[in-house]
Formats: sequence, C-alpha cells, structure tokens
Amino acid sequence: MKEPSVVTITVDNKEVQVPGDTNLIEALKAVGLETPHLCYHPDLPVSGNCRQCMVEVDGPRGMVLTIGCYTPVRPGMKVATSASSPKVAEARKAVLEFLLVNHPLDCPICDKAGECLLQENYMMAGASDSRLSPEIGKQYHGNPEHSSSDSKGQHRGGKRVDIGPRIVLDEERCIQCSRCVRFMRHVAGDEQLQLASRGGHSHITTFPGEKLDHPYDRCVTDICPVGALTDKSFRFRKRVWALSRIPTVSMDDSLGANIWVDYADGIIYRIMPRCNPEVNKSWLSNAARDVVQNIHENRLLNNDLSAALQIIKETKGKIAIVLGGSCTAEDIAAFKKFNIAEFFGGSFLPVQKADGIARSGDPVANRACLEKAGINTNLGELSKRAGEFELLITVAADLWDETPEEAGDLNKIPKRIALTSFNNNTAKNSAIAIGIRHWLENFGTMINSKGLEQKLQGTPTKEAALVDSAAIIAGRLHG
Ligand code: SF4
Ligand code: SF4
Ligand code: FES
Repeated sequence: MKEPSVVTITVDNKEVQVPGDTNLIEALKAVGLETPHLCYHPDLPVSGNCRQCMVEVDGPRGMVLTIGCYTPVRPGMKVATSASSPKVAEARKAVLEFLLVNHPLDCPICDKAGECLLQENYMMAGASDSRLSPEIGKQYHGNPEHSSSDSKGQHRGGKRVDIGPRIVLDEERCIQCSRCVRFMRHVAGDEQLQLASRGGHSHITTFPGEKLDHPYDRCVTDICPVGALTDKSFRFRKRVWALSRIPTVSMDDSLGANIWVDYADGIIYRIMPRCNPEVNKSWLSNAARDVVQNIHENRLLNNDLSAALQIIKETKGKIAIVLGGSCTAEDIAAFKKFNIAEFFGGSFLPVQKADGIARSGDPVANRACLEKAGINTNLGELSKRAGEFELLITVAADLWDETPEEAGDLNKIPKRIALTSFNNNTAKNSAIAIGIRHWLENFGTMINSKGLEQKLQGTPTKEAALVDSAAIIAGRLHG
C-alpha cells in the first residue's frame, strides 16, 4: 500500500505537518482544528456551495479568502483560520447570518436539534444576536405550492412535506447544501432528488408525481446537516441528547456494516451508520436499520434450561445443531464443545449480489467464522439427511420464520429445541424454546465478507437484562 504523503504547511503562523493528498478541511482536522462546514461531506463529491468553511490562503495577491473544502493542500502553503484572521471569522459569521435570515425558529421542536451543524456552527461563531427586524419577519421562498401564512400573518411554508414512504421534508429548514442530491446521484445512483428554481427560491423536490423511494433513502436524513429531511420512524420520538450510543457491527448482512445503536432507558430508538472507510463508509441500508423496528416486541424471555437439559440427557440418537449467521465467534466456540453433535450453520435464505454500497448480499453475517470452525453452511444437506437425527437444536437460526417451506423438512427430526430472541414460529415449532440475547445486545467477534475481524458491543436493553447470550447458555447446557 502507498504510504500517505505528509507535507509541511503554516497554519496561523505555526508550522504543522498534515496529509498531503487531501483538502484543507481534512488537513486541518488532522492537526485538531475543526473547520465549520455544511455542504462538505467526506464521502460525497465536493460542491463548495455553502461558503461556510472559509479560510485565508496565500496566493499571488497575498492572503485571500477561499473555501477549505475545495482547496487542496500544497507543500509550504500559508493558511489562516478564524483563530488568527478576523477576516475569516467575519466571513464565516456573515454566511451564517445569511443562512439564518429566513430560517425558522424551530430548534425546540426540531428533530435535528442537538446534532445540527447549523446550530453547532452558530455557537462556534459566537452566537450573535439577530439583526432581523420583527416587522419584516421570516420570508418563505420555497416551493410556491407549499406556501401559507401563520397565526401572526407571517409568510411560511414547506412544513411536513411528505416526499416518500420514509422521509419528511421541511423546506424552511433546508439550506440548499445539495448533500441529499449528491448522495442520490453519486452513491444511490438514482437521481430522485433535485434542487428546483434559482437563487433564494431554490428548494429541494422530487420529480413531479414521483416519490423519494430507494433502499438507502434514509441515508439522506443522516447527511442532511439540518432538520430538513427527517426519518418518519424517528420523528418526535426522542431528543437526541437524551440518547446514549453504542458502537457495534450489523449482523444483518456479512459486510458487517459499522453502526451506532442509539438507546435510552433500555429501549433502542435508532441505528445509524458509523463511518468506516474500509467497510460501509458513511452509509447504511434501510433494511439494516429496520432491525430495530420490532426489537422490543414479542421477545422470548424464558431462561429456564431444565426441560432442555432433560431432553438432551434422554437423547440417544444423533443431535444436529444449527448455528445462525448472527452467532459470534464466541457463540460458535461455546457450542462446538458439544462434541456429540453434528454442526450446520447459516440459513436457507439465498445469497444475493453485493449492492456496492453497504451490503454484501449474504444474509449469513458470520459465514467466515462458521466456515473457519469447519461448520457446514449448506442447510440443504441437513434437510436431506433430516431422518438421521433425533434432536435438532437451532441457535439464533429462525428457520421457520425466514423460510418456512425449506424448514419444513426439518420437522422430520422428532425433538426440537430453539434458542431464539423472539416468540416466533421457530419457537412455536419446537418442544422447548429458550430466550437469548439479540445480536444487538451481544458482545463478540465476527469476520466480515472482506475478511476483516470486527467486534460487537451489546446494547443494554431491558430484555438483555433478562436473558443470556447463546454462548452463556451453551456453557450451562454443556454443564
Ligand atoms: S435545522 Fe438546526 S437550526 Fe434549524 S431548527 Fe432545526 S435544530 Fe434549529
Ligand atoms: S434537504 Fe438537507 S441535505 Fe438536502 S439540500 Fe436541504 S439541507 Fe442539504
Ligand atoms: S463546506 Fe466548503 S463550501 Fe460548503
């Protein structure tokens, strides 16, 4: 691999060493200097439209104002930030003042409050008082079809625009940074969002009669720097500062997208992408986020192993253990101690093509660890040989829910024990069902489809306090 180049530049009259193959926002970040920005996003092409990231850079006409996101680093360059240049501080402040002139005073009811770049930049720039005269008031310039007057007779509009099955738009809060447009164009590869009209009347919209509807459309709510695009599944459910977050890995797919799990009081409210340039960059599919939709419903909380222990003791014939794709390396190692059993792994679900964004297409997330442990991941073989076995133990393998038809052959195995997180068909189809932690609540190791070893960290949900991980239950069953 090529070593990243390092160059020496002068920042605020001090020499520093920074990466040489990037722009000034990233270079300054590497030496601990945050540059306020709005339209720049490290995983999108630069558009340079918000003018928030102003710095001064030396050139033939001396130090001139320029935007940091579009200025590449060059050896020996001189840079001034707001720390040494009143001109930079003034320019950044002026940009904010323009952006805020007609921005609604929505922060108390805005879902983005607490993680809004506009709020953060305003505080960083010194939180100046408004010079807007109350007689003039806020003026709405968005889509004329959404125009209205509020109770004070002020010209408002663009509130709660339903632009798709999962996303709501608030036009007044949009700062026309075009991040959402660039995401749909360059990452999703499907230009469903556009900036319509010109100048102060620019507004985000879909094509006439069309909706924003794409398997990655919820990413636009992550990257929208303000509360213009919000996710219907999270809207008004929790203030973001009341949430704690756990960094973990999605076991929904074998790419193992890196995620944040946001929770409060034992309840998970949302999953968001955690940037990993080697794995999923800043992106996460809707499917991976949907895992939390029913995480607290229909949970199986039976922790009593006595009946299962009795069945295992009485079994004289062959035992098959199926380990699901979300089992960690530690779960697998704990079950492998049952040397009287034959092991199978995975799922009957088909492996799809990688989408090139944040999914490998393989629903057996930890296939690499299952295969490393010498486990046969061809469940078709177990179906064919089902008549050979007396007892089937499924572990986080909800086969009767995922693929009931294919699982049907396994009904030939007379005794069945399910270790599962939900009181689902797999649990109902087994003589004994024991509750286990969901992978979102589990600690352990997975190896992703690129061979990268990644660690899971469990979220302390209210259910996780009542049931154990599959690895702990394996130890108790093994005695
Ligand atoms: S987008 Fe940001 S600044 Fe605007 S109302 Fe929401 S939190 Fe406040
Ligand atoms: S909706 Fe959000 S991401 Fe899109 S242009 Fe407006 S502010 Fe930017
Ligand atoms: S962040 Fe540089 S112009 Fe917007």
